[in-house]
Amino acid sequence: MSLAIIGGTGALDLFDVLEHRRVESPYGAASATLARIDLDNGGAWFLARHGRPHRIPPHRINYRANIDALHRLGVAQIVAINAVGSMDPDHAAGALVVPDQLIDYTWGRRHTFSDDDITPLQHVEFAQPFSESLRRALLESATAVGQSCVDGGCMAVTQGPRLETAAEIRRLGRDGCNLVGMTAMPEAALAREAGMDYASLCVVANAAAGLEDEPISEAAIHRVLADAMQNVRQVLHALHT
Ligand code: HPA
Repeated sequence: MSLAIIGGTGALDLFDVLEHRRVESPYGAASATLARIDLDNGGAWFLARHGRPHRIPPHRINYRANIDALHRLGVAQIVAINAVGSMDPDHAAGALVVPDQLIDYTWGRRHTFSDDDITPLQHVEFAQPFSESLRRALLESATAVGQSCVDGGCMAVTQGPRLETAAEIRRLGRDGCNLVGMTAMPEAALAREAGMDYASLCVVANAAAGLEDEPISEAAIHRVLADAMQNVRQVLHALHT
């Protein structure tokens, strides 16, 4: 089983769990036990990024332990589910997007394995932060199950847990971002350091701050995600990597 799914906000109970496995890592405890699941084309591991129950804020997730634990299980491909805000009026709440770029605005997170004596210093190539073959597999799977899914986008990864100011969102837009989330970094870079393929399936939960008259409501986000995650589940069930 070389595929893993890292589930974020709203994606805790998407799959039936066959077995829970606790994996020791020198980087500490992963967010949750690793859950073995069955997809249409074979088995996979599922990891609840914010813990089970959902409680770990984005800046306190032990991203290194999560990626290392998956690596120890022999995982070679990671699909991350990310709830995001959208700066693009064409990507409304509920839309699925497979981004091809990101900009990291996070700070203070343990963001590399090259930080101690365990891993030698490496400067990984990261021009394309997502695996193109895994991106294609996600888009093909979406087509196969009849879900529309946008190919490409640039995700800003912010520190959270608060949402952004309207001015911050305008700046992220000027920087070239059209999506904003809180957890793809350092996750994507650590996967690259560990030699694993990584792609993100984003679910638009809301229009980003300041773009609509109404303030962003957490309750509305959870309502959108509850519906959209059923579509995510279909896409991942049919995934062929
Ligand atoms: N900003 C950052 N992260 C998010 C948002 C947002 O508007 N919505 C869901 N995750």
